[in-house]
Amino acid sequence: MISAEKIREDFPILKNITYLDSASTSLTPKPVIEAISDYYYNYNANIGRGAYKTAIKTGQKVESTRFKIASLINASEEEIIFTQNTTNAINTVINGYPFEKNENIIISDVEHHSNFIPWINLEKRSKNNLSLDVKIANADSDGIIKPSKIRELIDNNTRMIAITHISNSIGSRQDINNISKIVHEYDDVYLLIDVAQSIGHTKIDVKKINADFIAAPGHKGLLGPTGTGFLYGKKELIEKLSPTNLGGGTVTNLKNKEFELENVPYRFEGGTQNISGIIGFGKAIDYINDLNISKIEKHSIYLTKELYKLLSEIDNVIVYGNIDNIFNIVSFNIKNVNPHDVSKILDETENICVRSGYHCAIPSLDIINANEGTVRASIHFYNNLDDIKKLANSVKEISEFFK
Ligand code: ALA
Repeated sequence: MISAEKIREDFPILKNITYLDSASTSLTPKPVIEAISDYYYNYNANIGRGAYKTAIKTGQKVESTRFKIASLINASEEEIIFTQNTTNAINTVINGYPFEKNENIIISDVEHHSNFIPWINLEKRSKNNLSLDVKIANADSDGIIKPSKIRELIDNNTRMIAITHISNSIGSRQDINNISKIVHEYDDVYLLIDVAQSIGHTKIDVKKINADFIAAPGHKGLLGPTGTGFLYGKKELIEKLSPTNLGGGTVTNLKNKEFELENVPYRFEGGTQNISGIIGFGKAIDYINDLNISKIEKHSIYLTKELYKLLSEIDNVIVYGNIDNIFNIVSFNIKNVNPHDVSKILDETENICVRSGYHCAIPSLDIINANEGTVRASIHFYNNLDDIKKLANSVKEISEFFK
């Protein structure tokens, strides 16, 4: 177990609140905030544009974050594209991949809207030319996508499977290794994994998983600032993507309306990047590595199960998902009480922060019959058993009040 007590000193905000909403955004540790201030105080400059010392230092810092991300997931630096967030990473693939007529894409009904809406929008946009089809793999009542469902849907016209690793609304952890094996039985079918709720909480090795693309945030499990994220793609695949954000920094030559694209990944990074955020993101990866991701994972599994058990023991509380499968996220409701009301009361009475509502994953709520949404508690290594007990005790009191 991680000793959360010492670590909590790096998160002064925890003196005032019980934070159980890391699936929305994690808290930012002091060393990350200091790295951002250091950039602004001591070497503030743009990257790839100046030959002076501070500009060179800034460029090196940004590239060192790219290196740290690549090492973290066992990729190479040229396979890492900086993005603003996971949504932006997924859209980079959707809007850049050269899909062909009558191809299909498989997603699931436990996706976050970011891995759902842009795909169905692509299907709509392609109606008059490519006629793409988006097929939806239905998860079971615990929010688990059985690999056999993917096998049922995949066919010779399938080009991509885009699925989440961990559902952000139910917490169900998908069997991505077996799904990947099925996907790669087919030639030229690619697997895009949304690791928004897993990266930083569990080890992601793109080679072991055989992921073709992964879309990741910087500001959740990895503790980076908001406005950071990345897309990983196998080099030969990101070379196939058309960049959709062309401008400064994306070409090597421009003459007579002709231009030559920069190498990957730079052709995707048009305009001034979130430089301070990327520098903070690099520091955050060091912080996570120092803590050790395997230890973080054990700590989270322990607290997830404890919370699930404590909430399940309360009369009138429904806890979603399967205790042996969910990870980091515990979604629940008090019968006949709106989830936003529960969240508001938790905040007003005990300063407990949890998310409530639809979690930007409306289709997944049909699976668990939670049409008004759920209350969602999510965990990171700075949480301890006291946080979990405090939440469970408060939920018990609210449930008794409304009985
Ligand atoms: N995607 C984030 C969440 O699930 C914001 O809360």
